[in-house]
Amino acid sequence: MQMELLDIATARLRIRNLQIIDLNDFYEYRSNPEVTKFQGFDTMDLTQAKEFIELNSSLNYGLVGEWVQYAIALIDTNQLIGDCAIKLDKHSPGMAEIGITISPTEQNKGFAKEAIFGILEFLFDIKKFHRIFAIVDAENISSIHLLRSLSFRQEGHFIENIFFKGQWGSEFQFAMLKSEWDSLNKVKSNTNV
Ligand SMILES: CC(C)(COP(=O)(O)OP(=O)(O)OC[C@H]1O[C@@H](n2cnc3c(N)ncnc32)[C@H](O)[C@@H]1OP(=O)(O)O)[C@@H](O)C(=O)NCCC(=O)NCCS
Repeated sequence: MQMELLDIATARLRIRNLQIIDLNDFYEYRSNPEVTKFQGFDTMDLTQAKEFIELNSSLNYGLVGEWVQYAIALIDTNQLIGDCAIKLDKHSPGMAEIGITISPTEQNKGFAKEAIFGILEFLFDIKKFHRIFAIVDAENISSIHLLRSLSFRQEGHFIENIFFKGQWGSEFQFAMLKSEWDSLNKVKSNTNV
């Protein structure tokens, strides 16, 4: 797949590569155990946060089989309010897994929904992807609400399938197909007429 710089604009947000200017805001929420409680990674110290930004800032969209973490910034000020990740499937072109984190000070403002909507528009409408999926801890209420609210379909409930942060955890898998995305948008445009 061709490498390119990801730059997605929504009404309030810009999804772009992480930059070193994001360090303080990034470190602030990525060092908070409440934020990483249900995530596959742990809290970071400042050095780890800097190394993480340096690594991801040089990764372009198009890399397959690895997570690439992007910044979610306010479009007006360029201030970082969270990050999102896309992992393009190594074996099935047209399939990707996504993840997202919003800083606690910026949660419940619709930012995660807006950012993921922007990613779906990019992957489905521009890149013509076939299937996007997300795996969330079965106790991660806010993520489950977020995915349901975007009309992701729950397609799996894995029971104690992962040894996670010292204990067995359960997970849900959610997915959306391009055909489902297209139907949703058809319904929306019909409603707007
Ligand atoms: C999950 C997370 C990204 C949601 O971010 P957010 O910006 O607060 O979410 P939004 O404001 O866009 O809300 C999206 C929808 O979820 C609902 N929602 C969000 N948190 C909720 C909660 N705790 N309880 C009930 N509903 C919730 C909102 O009401 C909204 O639904 P609606 O539009 O139908 O009203 C955020 O809580 C987070 O970063 N959590 C920690 C990191 C994490 O666990 N990430 C997921 C790993 S995949």
